[in-house]
Amino acid sequence: MNGQRLPREAGAAGIDAAFAAAVLEGLAQPQKRISSAWLYDRRGSELFEEITGLAEYYPTRTEIGILEAHAPDMARPVGRAAVLVEIGSGSSRKTPILLRALAEPHAYVPIDLAHDFFLASAHALAREFAGLRICPLVADFTQPFALPDALRSEARPRLGFFPGSTIGNLSPGGAIAFLRIMAGALGPGAYMLIGTDCTHDPTLLLPAYDDTRGVTAAFNLNLLARINRELGDKDGVNDGDSESMDGRGAGGERFALAAFRHEARYRRERDLGRIEMHLVSRRAQSVRLCGRRFDFAAGETIHTENSYKYSRDDFRALARAAGWLPEECWSDARQRFCVHLLRLSPHAPHPRTMRRAEPPATAPSSSSF
Ligand code: AVI
Repeated sequence: MNGQRLPREAGAAGIDAAFAAAVLEGLAQPQKRISSAWLYDRRGSELFEEITGLAEYYPTRTEIGILEAHAPDMARPVGRAAVLVEIGSGSSRKTPILLRALAEPHAYVPIDLAHDFFLASAHALAREFAGLRICPLVADFTQPFALPDALRSEARPRLGFFPGSTIGNLSPGGAIAFLRIMAGALGPGAYMLIGTDCTHDPTLLLPAYDDTRGVTAAFNLNLLARINRELGDKDGVNDGDSESMDGRGAGGERFALAAFRHEARYRRERDLGRIEMHLVSRRAQSVRLCGRRFDFAAGETIHTENSYKYSRDDFRALARAAGWLPEECWSDARQRFCVHLLRLSPHAPHPRTMRRAEPPATAPSSSSF
């Protein structure tokens, strides 16, 4: 699972305007913040893939274990010749488990913002599942979208699949909005399978988001490297730092990576727990980007990710608030992760006609925070 992916809309100056706007606006906030959606450039996606194999990062292998143990039970209620719609496609290890369990699946619709990545995984699936229609859709799943025309007109069972606990990277309000969008896209009677991390033990969570090999730190710090690569002027200075801009002596970049460190924090407010990722400024410093100056006090942070952890019942309540009926939930023996099967009432009002999704040129929704 690749997490959230982003459009690469380069303007005349070769700068992704949406990325630039998100960074400049986020760094101007009292609590500096940049949406986690921007963590996933090519390097960020590679580092996230590495995270999923870390000993400390239990969600991926736990979810795969649940899918392997229960996929037939998950697939049975959906029925024969279903259309599988995967959000944020690329969970190359999880999708085949589900496809093998579904009875003669009719079509697979991976939905993502980045063409290159999901076309590669769609080709791999086409080889294994001969006869399966593969209809990739470039769309921003935080905005209303419609299934491809050919599938929309067919009355077949529909199953949405959103594994990896990526729904936890949205705020609870953003998660409800997302589930409503999925209801509109999939239509009455549809099912959704959603993976959620339900761990509330900080002794497990903190190492999972701050591993000993420093891969998560590199994933977080890559955001600054990306800003340097994509938005950095060549003549910038980093005030208050006699070192070079990249902390290695090369000079010329906006952020000195060595002047920031990764930090994972666990926060619990009432029943809701979440991991936050921050980039902490090691000292007072100023950074110039696109002609603007951003000051950092020593210890000040850029908040780069929320990862909400939902108990089984809290997630069910959230699904209900979005109009979905919780049908079933499978977990591991240690109750660390849940895979929820949700259903829309077959009598739900017919979804209003959605505009055809275009490759988005806008920033991801602020619902990431
Ligand atoms: C993609 N997403 C579900 C991951 C998570 O666990 O929130 C992203 C991640 N961030 C740090 N490690 C993994």
